[in-house]
Amino acid sequence: MANILITSGPTRQYLDPVRYLTNASSGRMGAALASAAIEAGHQVTIVSGPVHLNYPGNARVVFVTTTDEMLQAVEELFPSQDGLIGAAAPCDYMPRRVSSAKIAKSGEPLQLELIETPDIVATAAHNKKPHQWVVGFALETEDQRFRAIVKMQKKCCDIMVSNGPSAIDSADNEVEILASDGQTIAHVSGSKPAVAASIVESIDRWLEKRG
Ligand code: C5P
Repeated sequence: MANILITSGPTRQYLDPVRYLTNASSGRMGAALASAAIEAGHQVTIVSGPVHLNYPGNARVVFVTTTDEMLQAVEELFPSQDGLIGAAAPCDYMPRRVSSAKIAKSGEPLQLELIETPDIVATAAHNKKPHQWVVGFALETEDQRFRAIVKMQKKCCDIMVSNGPSAIDSADNEVEILASDGQTIAHVSGSKPAVAASIVESIDRWLEKRG
């Protein structure tokens, strides 16, 4: 039995009190991973952005809005966990300035200056203790396998799940599960619950081998 932290869903970065940047992540992959991990006997905590689905009742869920809040929750929770699965699609950019009042239309183009948000998986993985592990997801539109391996090394992940853009807001997924040496652990497709069960099984097998 392991204590597993799962990030799930999108985050939001507000431009003003009513407008925000986000993406189409539904949280379905995170919810499916949580169910599969619980089914396999693990204890699950989820840090989720705003979603319209129900997470398994026996998982602890912490809701956040922004990428910074997701990072803060992960930094608080990860030290007491064995592993982290980064299934969230955090918003990668935020406006340099957030307007405290609703931005009024002026008839002119609106220039937004965006800066990068912190990378949650990379931050957690770079600071992990020797017994802890981190699994990341890489969503790429081209050179999926190669880019996923580069991302795994850059973000210090132990396992990378590579998938394509059709995964976003979909009931199904097709993934390649990659080990840190670039070897393919498994290639699976099907419903997100079926794919999640294979991912959890692959993590469990990898943990058994690692000892
Ligand atoms: O967006 P990207 O393809 O870099 O995401 C790869 C992995 O990094 C995913 O596991 C995602 O959850 C994680 N990530 C993160 N914080 C970000 C961006 C991505 O944890 N700001």
